[in-house]
Amino acid sequence: MDEDRIRRKSLLGKVVSSAEAALHIEDGMVVGLSGLGSGDAKVVPVAVADRAANERLRITLMTGASMNSDVDRRLTMAGAMARRMPFQADPVLRAAINRGEVMYLDQHLSDTAEMLRSQQIPPVDVAIIEAVAITEQGGIVPTTAVANAPTYALQAKKVIVELNLHHSLELEGLHDVYIPAARPDRQAVPIFSPQDRIGLPYIPVDPARIAAIVVTDQADSTCVIQPPDQETKDIAGHLVDFFANEVKQGRLGPSLAPLQAGIGSIGNDVLHGFVDSPFHDLVMYSEVLQDSTFDLFDTGKLAFASGASILLSNIGVAEFLPRIGRYRDRMILRPQEITNHPEVLRRLGVIAINTALEADIYGNVNSTHVFGTGMMNGIGGSADFSRNARIAVFITKSLAKDGRISSIVPMVSHVDHIDHDVDVLVTEQGLADLRGLAPRERARTVIDNCVHPSYRDMANDYFREAAKRGGHTPHLMEQAFGWHLAYQREGTMQAGVMVC
Ligand code: COA
Repeated sequence: MDEDRIRRKSLLGKVVSSAEAALHIEDGMVVGLSGLGSGDAKVVPVAVADRAANERLRITLMTGASMNSDVDRRLTMAGAMARRMPFQADPVLRAAINRGEVMYLDQHLSDTAEMLRSQQIPPVDVAIIEAVAITEQGGIVPTTAVANAPTYALQAKKVIVELNLHHSLELEGLHDVYIPAARPDRQAVPIFSPQDRIGLPYIPVDPARIAAIVVTDQADSTCVIQPPDQETKDIAGHLVDFFANEVKQGRLGPSLAPLQAGIGSIGNDVLHGFVDSPFHDLVMYSEVLQDSTFDLFDTGKLAFASGASILLSNIGVAEFLPRIGRYRDRMILRPQEITNHPEVLRRLGVIAINTALEADIYGNVNSTHVFGTGMMNGIGGSADFSRNARIAVFITKSLAKDGRISSIVPMVSHVDHIDHDVDVLVTEQGLADLRGLAPRERARTVIDNCVHPSYRDMANDYFREAAKRGGHTPHLMEQAFGWHLAYQREGTMQAGVMVC
C-alpha cells in the first residue's frame, strides 16, 4: 500500500476488496457517489450490481451528474436501480427511465445538496467517494471532480473511499471545498472573482465514519466529443461576432465576462471557436471543463477556469491529464452547488452558453425531452446558469436527423428554459438577439435568423396565421405541435404543412 496516499495510519486497516466494501450497502438504501462525468466511484458500485444479480438489492443512486464509467448501465441491467438523481446520460439507463422502470428525478444540479441539507429528500446512507489521497486528519482529497461528493460524504452514516492510484497526486491542491451553512443564518458565498478560494483542499470527514477503503487503479472513462464541423464552426463564428459587437458597444471588455459552456459536442466545439477570436485573458466560471478549456489554456486565450469537474475525450485525457500540474495554478474544482450558485452567478455576471434540443419561435427552449416525452439526459446545470446569467445563450444546429427535424419549431414540446430566461438563440443560420424584444418581435427575429431555409416558409406561414388570430404570444393551438405530429406520422416534419 502506498502510504503517501493513506496518510492517517489508523485507516490502513480499513483497506478491503470492492466485494467486501459493497456489503455495507443494503436493500432500499440511498447511495451517494462522487463524480460529475469524471471522478466517479468506479468499482464498489459495480460490486453492488454483481450482488444484485443474486439477491434483492434496489437502491436510490445519487451522483453529481452523469457517469462515464459503466456504473449506470451495470446497476440498471442488474435491476438494482430503483431511483436515480440528479442527472444521467447513459443509453441503457435512459431506456429504462423511458420505460418507466427507474424513477428519475431530473434536478437542477445546484439543488441536490441543498435539498439534502434541508431534509427535503431522504438522506444519504452510504457515500462512495473516489480519492487521490486521505490526509493525516482523515480528509478526502477528490480526483477529477468535486461535484456533490462533500455533501454526500458529510451526510452519510458510512463513507467508502475508492483510492484510485491511477490519478496523479498532482491533482492535490486543485480543489476548493466550501459548504454553505444551514439556513436561515447563512452568510453570502464569498466568491467575488472566479479565482477566489474560499474552502479547504479536501473533504473534511470524521475518520470514524470511513467504513472501508478500496484501492483501485482505473482511468476515468472518457466522453465522445465530435470534432468541430462546419455548422458548429458557423455557430461559433456568429457568437464571436456578437460578442465583438458587445465589446464595440462598450457593454463588455475584451476579456468578456466569466464564461460557462454546457456539456456535449456542440458546447465544446463552440467554446473551441474562441481560440480564433479577438478576445483575450478569458476566464471560465463553469460546471464541466471539457477539452476546449485546455485548448484555450494552451493557446494563451484563457487565464483561469473554475469548474466542478474535468470531463475529457480520450484524446483530451491522453494530452492534458498527464500535465495537469501545469494547469493547477490556473484552475479550481468546486462543489457543484457553488459552481452553479445563483448568488455567485448573478454577482459575477456570467455568460452562459448551453445547448438546446429544440427551441420555439418565441425563444422557449427544450433541452431534455425528445418529442415532449422521452428523456434524453436531463436539465443538468443549464437552468442554474441561464436564469442567473448576464447573457443566456442557447445554441443548436437548425436541423436534426438529416433534416427530417427542424430544431426550431412553432411551440417546444417540453419547456426547460422559458422565453424570459433566453437572451440569445444561435444556429448555424445566424443569431437572434432577443434582448428587449416582445414576443411578436422575438418570433420575427428567430424565424429570420435561426430557422433553416427548408423550414422557413412553414414557420412564416404558421406565425402569419397565428398573428391574425391575435394574442400577446400568438399560437394556433390546434397546430402548435403539427410539425412534431407529422414527424411521428410520416418520419419528417416537412409533412407538417399547415391546414388553415
Ligand atoms: N429532436 C429530436 N432529437 C434531436 C433534436 C431534436 N430537435 N436535436 C438533436 N437531437 C438528437 C441528435 O440527433 C442526437 O441524436 P443521436 O444521439 O441519436 O445522434 C442527440 O439529440 C444529441 O444531439 P447532438 O446534436 O449530438 O448534441 P449534443 O451532444 O451537443 O447534446 C443535448 C445536446 C441538448 C442533448 C445536451 O447538451 C444536453 O443533454 N443538454 C442538457 C444538459 C445541459 O445543458 N447541461 C449544461 C450544463 S453543464
